[in-house]
Amino acid sequence: MRGFFISVEGSDGSGKSTQIKKIEEYLKSRNQEILLTREPGGTLISEKIRELLLDPTNKEMTAKTEMLLYAGARTQHLEEFILPNLQQGRSILSDRFTDSSIAYQGFGRGLGDMVAEVNYIATGGISPDITFFLDLSPEAGIARKKAEVDHTMDRLELEKQEFHQRVYDGYKALCNLHEQRICRIDASQSVDAVFAEIKESLDRLFGF
Ligand code: TYD
Repeated sequence: MRGFFISVEGSDGSGKSTQIKKIEEYLKSRNQEILLTREPGGTLISEKIRELLLDPTNKEMTAKTEMLLYAGARTQHLEEFILPNLQQGRSILSDRFTDSSIAYQGFGRGLGDMVAEVNYIATGGISPDITFFLDLSPEAGIARKKAEVDHTMDRLELEKQEFHQRVYDGYKALCNLHEQRICRIDASQSVDAVFAEIKESLDRLFGF
């Protein structure tokens, strides 16, 4: 049987990494073979593209270049890692996927529908079986990030408040568009309360 493809999305500082670890632990405790991965990244080539994308010194990068690099990293990740593993029955847990490009490049950078078109080419229309969107206002998210000890802000995090607000509006639009796939969770709740909601959906998906 093919594995399940799960993605987790959220604005910067929404507690994504913590929840991803909890999902991984939970599914392993249920004897599921689950592979953790991330975007941009997940393969050698995609991780190299990630370095270019997040490097704060790459100030000249245009919005379109940024969109294409994210899409390129995604194609490689999908073809080299995600699809072969799903076909062999392993489940994939990805920190971000195409929704991030729609929110950050489509809404944040203002590239609009072009982003969905390019990503259709990049993914052949493949999307996760379920996506958890950790919903936290951009102000709260950025405040959490800045409070982290030793956290250096990457190129995207350094963007202005308005950019993060547009990204957030993008996620809201995606939630309305894909009600079946995207599970929106109030990320201002405690870690345990957020995970309890995630667990309920996972139990339904895996049939536990
Ligand atoms: P990362 O350090 O993984 O941030 P986070 O912990 O918030 O996930 O960096 C990924 C950054 O890239 C993040 O700011 C979101 C951005 N991004 C896009 O703009 N478009 C995309 O398609 C993806 C996958 C990420």
